[in-house]
Amino acid sequence: MPEIQRLLDNNIQWADATMARDPEFFDTLSKQQSPMYLWIGCSDSRVPANQIVDLLPGDIFVHRNVANLVVHTDFNCLSVLQYAVDVLQVKHIIVCGHYGCGGIDAALGDESLGLIDNWLAHIKDIAALHHDELAELSGEAKTSRLCELNVMTQAKNVAKSSIYKDAIQRGQAIKIHSWIYSLRNGKLKNLAENI
Ligand code: CO
Repeated sequence: MPEIQRLLDNNIQWADATMARDPEFFDTLSKQQSPMYLWIGCSDSRVPANQIVDLLPGDIFVHRNVANLVVHTDFNCLSVLQYAVDVLQVKHIIVCGHYGCGGIDAALGDESLGLIDNWLAHIKDIAALHHDELAELSGEAKTSRLCELNVMTQAKNVAKSSIYKDAIQRGQAIKIHSWIYSLRNGKLKNLAENI
C-alpha cells in the first residue's frame, strides 16, 4: 500500500522539519491550544482550512462537513461551536464556502444520491427561499450564487444559535465572517461580516 506509506513517510519529514525550525513547537502545543479562530468549512479536499490561510497547527479550530452547513440540530457542529466559543474563547467564527461546491450543485439537481439527500435538503430549502433570484440564473452562475447564499445563511445560523447569543449577552467579543473560496485562483472573498 504505497499510497498509505507515503503519508507516514511525509509525516516523519514534516515533523522533523518543523522541529528543525522550532525545537519547542510540539512541546508548547502539546500543553495547550488557544486558537483565535473557528473555521466552519466544506469537507471538499480542495479547501483545507489551515493551508489556504497559511496557519500553523494550533492556530485554527476546524469543523468541516459537506457544504459547510450549520444545522441547529447537528450536535457535532454545535459541540464544536460551543467548545470553541465557551472554552477556547475564539474571537472569530469563519464560515467558509467555496465556488464549485459539489454539495450545492447536487442540491440544485434532482438526482438521488442516497442518505446525503437528507443533508442536502437544507440547501434545497435555501434555494426555495431565493427561488426568484436563482430562476434568473443558470449553469455555473446559478451554482455560484447559491454557494454565496448558503454561506451567508449558515453564518446567520451561527448567529441564531443559543451558543453565540449567550456569548454576546455575556459581553464576549466574537465576530462572524462569511467567506467564499475560489478553486480557480485560491483566493478568498469576504461576503459579509456579523450578519
Ligand atoms: Co463543497
